Amino acid sequence: MTFLNISKAFLLTIAALGVLAQEEGSTLPDATAIGAAPPPRKIQRPANCNTPEVIQPSAPFSVVSGYEAIVVSNTIKNPRSVTVDEANHFLVLAAGDNSIYSIREDLCGNMSQQLLVNGSKLGGSILQDSLIAFRDHLYVATGDAVYKFQYSPGQHSEIQSAPEVVIKNIGEKQLPMTIDPRGRLFVPKGFSQAATGGSQVRQYDLLDVPAGGFDYGNSGEALSAAGNNGAGPLAYDTQGRIWGTNIAADGSENLSLFDANASSNTTVPVGSQTRGIAFYRGLGCSVGDADSLGTTEGFPCRWTDHAFLATRNTGIVHVPFSDLAHAPSGAPETIFGQTDISDCSTGTCISPISIAFDQNGRIVTASDTTNEVWMVRRLYNPDAGKILTDKANAADAASEAKDEAKDAAAEDAKAPKEDATVPEDSANQE
Ligand SMILES: *[C@@H]1O[C@H](CO)[C@@H](O)[C@H](O)[C@H]1NC(C)=O
Ligand SMILES: *[C@@H]1O[C@H](CO)[C@@H](O)[C@H](O)[C@H]1NC(C)=O
Ligand SMILES: *[C@@H]1O[C@H](CO)[C@@H](O)[C@H](O)[C@H]1NC(C)=O
Ligand SMILES: *[C@@H]1O[C@H](CO)[C@@H](O)[C@H](O)[C@H]1NC(C)=O
Ligand SMILES: *[C@@H]1O[C@H](CO)[C@@H](O)[C@H](O)[C@H]1NC(C)=O
Repeated sequence: MTFLNISKAFLLTIAALGVLAQEEGSTLPDATAIGAAPPPRKIQRPANCNTPEVIQPSAPFSVVSGYEAIVVSNTIKNPRSVTVDEANHFLVLAAGDNSIYSIREDLCGNMSQQLLVNGSKLGGSILQDSLIAFRDHLYVATGDAVYKFQYSPGQHSEIQSAPEVVIKNIGEKQLPMTIDPRGRLFVPKGFSQAATGGSQVRQYDLLDVPAGGFDYGNSGEALSAAGNNGAGPLAYDTQGRIWGTNIAADGSENLSLFDANASSNTTVPVGSQTRGIAFYRGLGCSVGDADSLGTTEGFPCRWTDHAFLATRNTGIVHVPFSDLAHAPSGAPETIFGQTDISDCSTGTCISPISIAFDQNGRIVTASDTTNEVWMVRRLYNPDAGKILTDKANAADAASEAKDEAKDAAAEDAKAPKEDATVPEDSANQE
C-alpha cells in the first residue's frame, strides 16, 4: 500500500498554538454547540513506568508518517464494535463469545482487560453489533432489536442486571446505529434492499422510551439521504447532523448527509465496505509538523470534524471536511492498514469494522477477522510545543529582517538620486 504524501498535510499545520486557537475559534463557530475542542493536554507519565507489553500484530501494517499503531488486545473473539466511555475505557463487543469487554489503560500506558457483560448469562439474543456507551447505559443491537444495559462509566466489573428493550420489531439484523449527544438514536434498515432503494433511517428519543420499548415502524421519525439507495453505518458530526453511506448495486459507496431535506452536494465517493464511521471532535488534539511531531498523541486539531472510516481490509480512511459548509472537501486517504492487501479474499487481513476516538484524540478500532483491537495515534514529542514556538519566532525574526532589508534597500535606492543632485560639498557651501 502506498500512502499519499503526508508532508503536504503537515505543511498545512499552523505552526504556533496561539495562531491555531484563534483560527479554529473563528472557523468553527458551531463547534461549541455540541463538542468544542479543548486546549491540547500534556501527556504526563509517572517517572518509574515499566515499558508496556508489546502485542505482536497479526500482519505487517502501514501507518502515515508521524503516527503509530499498536495492538491493544488480541484475545477478544470476533470483536464487532468499539466505543469509548466517559472515563476513557475502551468497550468492545465480542460476537465470538457473546460478551462485552472493557479495556482500561493505566498511567504508564499498560492495558488491562475485564469482562463487562456475559450475554449468555443475561439471556436473550446473541450480542451482535453496534455497542454504544451513552450516559449510564450501554446500548447494543441484538437480533432485530436494540437493548440497553445499566452501566456506570469507568465500571471495571461484570454487569449483573438483565438488559431492557429500547426498540423492537426492526425486522432486520446486524444493524449499525448511532446516538447523538442529545440522546437521539438512529437506526438504518434495508441492507437487503439496498440496490432497489428500499432502505430507511429512523430516529428515536432515548430520553423518552416507552415501557416495553419503541416499535420500529410505528414510532420515531424517518430521515432520508441524497440518492437514498442503501444505508450502512452512521455517525453524527459536530453540528449533530447524521452522515451515512449509500451503497450502489456495484458495491461502490458514498458518504452522504442524512437529512429530512437531503442535498446532493453533501456526498463523496469513499470506496467500498465502509463498516464504521466517526467524526473527530477535537478532544486531546495536537499540533505539530514533521520535525516537531505532535504536542499530544491526539489527531491534529485542524482535522476536527473530519470523518474517519473503518473500511473492510483497506484500513482506516480519513475524509477531509471543510469547516464552514461542513461538507466533504477532498479525496479520502488511507492512514492505517495492512501493508499487503492483495490476498485478503483468500486469507485473513487486518480488517477494521468499527472506529471510535478516545478522549486523548486517538483512534480505537477493532479488526474482527484477526481478533485485534488497535490504537492509532500521533507520535508525541514533549518538546513539540517549544520547537514550534522557536520556529514561529525564527520565522517572525526572518520576516522582520527581510522587511528591514527591504526598507534599507528602498532608502539606498533613493539615496543615490539625492547624492547626484546634491554635491558632496554643497552642505558646506550653504
Ligand atoms: C500490565 O498489566 C497487567 C495486568 O494488569 C500486569 O499483569 C502487567 O504486569 C502490567 N505490565 C506492566 C509493564 O506494568
Ligand atoms: C458466560 O457464562 C457462561 C455460563 O456461566 C460460561 O459458560 C461462559 O464461559 C461465560 N462467558 C465468558 C465470556 O466468560
Ligand atoms: C455517489 O455520488 C455520485 C455523484 O457524486 C453519483 O454519481 C453516484 O451515483 C453516487 N453513488 C451512490 C452509491 O450514491
Ligand atoms: C426541510 O424543509 C421543510 C420545508 O422546506 C422545512 O420546513 C424543514 O424545516 C426542513 N428541515 C430541515 C431539517 O432542514
Ligand atoms: C450545496 O450547493 C448549494 C448551491 O449549489 C450551495 O448554496 C450550498 O452551500 C452547498 N452546500 C454545501 C454543504 O456545500
